[in-house]
Amino acid sequence: MARFTSIYICQQCGYKSSTYLGKCPQCDAWNSFVEEVQEKISGTKNRVPREKAKIINLSEVEKIDYKRLDCQISELNRVLGGGIVYGSLILVAGDPGIGKSTLLTQLALNVVKSLYVAGEESARQIKIRVERIFPKKNLAVLNETDVDVIVGAIEEFKPNLVIIDSIQTLQTEDLDSVAGSVGQVRESAHRLQRLAKSMHIPIFLVGHVTKEGTVAGPKTLEHLVDVVLNLEGDPGNQFRILRAAKNRFGSTDEVGIFEMEEKGMVEVKNPSKLFLDTKVDAPGSTVVALMTGLRPLLVEIQALVTKTTLPIPRRTGAGIDNNRLQLLVAVLQKRLGLPLFNQDIFVNVTGGLKITEPAADLGICMAIVSSLKDQSITPKTVFMGEVGLLGEIRDVRSLKRREGEARKLGFNNIISSKSTKSLSQALKLALIK
Ligand code: TYD
Ligand code: MG
Repeated sequence: MARFTSIYICQQCGYKSSTYLGKCPQCDAWNSFVEEVQEKISGTKNRVPREKAKIINLSEVEKIDYKRLDCQISELNRVLGGGIVYGSLILVAGDPGIGKSTLLTQLALNVVKSLYVAGEESARQIKIRVERIFPKKNLAVLNETDVDVIVGAIEEFKPNLVIIDSIQTLQTEDLDSVAGSVGQVRESAHRLQRLAKSMHIPIFLVGHVTKEGTVAGPKTLEHLVDVVLNLEGDPGNQFRILRAAKNRFGSTDEVGIFEMEEKGMVEVKNPSKLFLDTKVDAPGSTVVALMTGLRPLLVEIQALVTKTTLPIPRRTGAGIDNNRLQLLVAVLQKRLGLPLFNQDIFVNVTGGLKITEPAADLGICMAIVSSLKDQSITPKTVFMGEVGLLGEIRDVRSLKRREGEARKLGFNNIISSKSTKSLSQALKLALIK
């Protein structure tokens, strides 16, 4: 039997101490000590003799085809890269109340012989959730927070899938620090990682994101797990977006879109249609075509431009990067000569979506001009183009796919770098005469 002792290690320089220290005596860093376990090996006779290192030629390595489990939630399968890889450790992170437990309960109900380990909620609370989602189904629940007990129970029960809700509630007695501390979270995840690999079953970890960000939060786990999924959304809005921030078995481009409803998270099969459902053709509203992974997506952009009462006018974006917004406003001022210096500008992406693609630039610019001039954009117009600092319209990737999606939804006025290279020309094509 290996014996464990706990030790505090400075995360900056690696200095070791048997007690917690607020300041590292070696590198002077503050609050850098994290508790870790150390295996005690007495004497030299227990030391395992080192093997000779072996160099491998890639041509000799067999190609691995990951065996995947279909989770019967196609949006989740898509984000995972085509299903759940056996033996993988998957972290699902997100703000409290966003729907992590709901989504993972649904997943557990879909997979035969899955185990739901609840450290936060009682079995009764989970029963209430299950009854909302799928009243007739059964689910195995374990109410426990000691990771070693959990590991023992999983080894005995031999489930096909495990959900740990949440990793912040787990602890091992080998460490002295409290549950939720970086040391405990990391060590618990380590033990589950080893278990997932040895038993060849997928384990999902729920992780809360704290407002402060990193401390004891899922950030410390990102290196350890195989997949990191972020569940995002505006609590005031029913849309939830599942995004892969890291995926050892697939692309991180794909997103899954859900709607939080009475009976749990419902997959959104045709998101473009849904995002445009409430669109009205008023000044300040435009439609852009985005790509999320391989899937094109049409979303509405809204801009409001009003005279400012402040010495420095506001430029506020919801769902788009503020720096990008500042840049586009500067381009509009300089290249189209628009008087935006005394105007507050607010831009919003509807549906709570976050845009990271420059392909939305042209649509954002046109929404701003449309609001400033108080003139609507011609109905059934869609924009796809990056705007450069010289005011030129640049190409975007996967133009054909975006055009296809737009046509499918009846948009016949497609404005991209193919139609024109200049902002002023694009404006002529877009505004109602
Ligand atoms: P939950 O999954 O508990 O969030 P998390 O685990 O991320 O903290 O869900 C939180 C909210 O979702 C809660 O306020 C209730 C709501 N909800 C629904 O709208 N429909 C449902 O079917 C369920 C189970 C929850
Ligand atoms: Mg929860």
